[in-house]
Parts: sequence; structure tokens; C-alpha cells
Amino acid sequence: MTIHAAFQLERLSKAELKAERSALVAVYFSAYRDLPHYAYHSRDEVEDYLSWLHRGDRRGFYVVRVGKEIVAWMSVHDSWRGWRGDQPEAQGELQELVVARPYQGMGLGRRLVALAIQHTARAGRRRIGLYVGEQNEPARRLYERFGFRVESQWNIWLRMQRPVDPVVDQQLEGLGDNL
Ligand SMILES: CC(C)(COP(=O)(O)OP(=O)(O)OC[C@H]1O[C@@H](n2cnc3c(N)ncnc32)[C@H](O)[C@@H]1OP(=O)(O)O)[C@@H](O)C(=O)NCCC(=O)NCCS
Repeated sequence: MTIHAAFQLERLSKAELKAERSALVAVYFSAYRDLPHYAYHSRDEVEDYLSWLHRGDRRGFYVVRVGKEIVAWMSVHDSWRGWRGDQPEAQGELQELVVARPYQGMGLGRRLVALAIQHTARAGRRRIGLYVGEQNEPARRLYERFGFRVESQWNIWLRMQRPVDPVVDQQLEGLGDNL
């Protein structure tokens, strides 16, 4: 689907994830270039991370392309029960969001956060959460604009959450309609 004349939004299948692994890793390193404290540093770690992200919600891995090139990606899990898997109620979790450096500041982050909330609403969940680096101000501001609030801190990570309205939030920005 088109979110801007040049940008195409897609959901990535398991096979596509495998085929596009290098491109996804490159976007990750490009996005986190100036935030090394909050990122993996080796290609192997990022590749394992990609598999873990996709396994957690096979329908929650989204990419944005310009032509064939992947310029941003996002992973959301719609049945997250916390790191120990012991939360009684499943919720949405925005696991990762990366926009390649040259494409930052063009509204892709905003669109993908909206999509994560919409994905969660479509699964009927009532809450979405995420972890963000305590000094990652641009990301934190972006999440705050969508109503996420800091609820706690773990090490260098802030825990942010936001309620989800299963009806209203499905209509957020009209994204993902034909996915
Ligand atoms: C955080 C991130 C995903 C935002 O993506 P993005 O596509 O740049 O975000 P948007 O273009 O939608 O912009 C969101 C806001 O941040 C500002 N912004 C983001 N990057 C900017 C940049 N490089 N230059 C200027 N402004 C920037 C925008 O102006 C916008 O503010 P506004 O809504 O008041 O105009 C992206 O910067 C990124 O990949 N960061 C590194 C990885 C990361 O921190 N991920 C989040 C993990 S929790």
C-alpha cells in the first residue's frame, strides 16, 4: 500500500525475511549509527534478533520500500506477555522500529508507530508497550505524541505504555487497510 508516492508498505513473510536479511541488517545499523548504547553491534546478533522478532508475530513484521530498497522496518507482537511470559493479559508490544538514516524525519516513524497501534487494536488488545533508551529523545518524543507514557525504568530502558481502543485505534491514519 502507498503511504507516500514513493513509499510502499508491506508485511514481510518468513521466506522474505530470510531473503532480505542483509538489507534489514543494513537499515538497522544505519538507524542506530548515533545510538550505539541501545543497539546490537554484530551482524550475527542482529540476524538472530530478526528471526526472534518474526517468530513472535508472523504477521507483525512490516517494511517500507522505495522501489525495491528497504528503507525502514518495524516489528510488533500482538500477544506479548512480558519477558518471562508470565503476564496474565496479552498485549501489543512494539518490539523494534528503525528508519534508515537518510530517510529519517520524513514521517515514516510516525506512520509505523500508528501501524503498530492499529495492528494491536486489530488483535483486540487493550494495551501496547515498548522499551526505549533513556536518552533516545527523538524516539521518546515520537511515542509521547501517540499517548505512550513512561511507567517504569529498567537499567537504561524506559518502559512506556499506552491504552488501546480496539475500535477507535483500528482507524488510525487508515494505514494497513489492504494488508
Ligand atoms: C526514532 C525513529 C524511528 C523515528 O523515525 P522517523 O521516520 O525519523 O520519524 P518521523 O519522520 O515520523 O519524525 C518523528 C519526529 O521526530 C523528528 N525527527 C526524527 N528524526 C529526525 C531527524 N533526523 N531530523 C530532524 N527531525 C527528526 C521529526 O521532526 C518528527 O517530529 P514532528 O512530528 O514534530 O515533526 C528514527 O529516528 C530511528 O530509526 N531512530 C533510530 C532507531 C530508534 O531509536 N528506534 C526506536 C527504538 S525504541
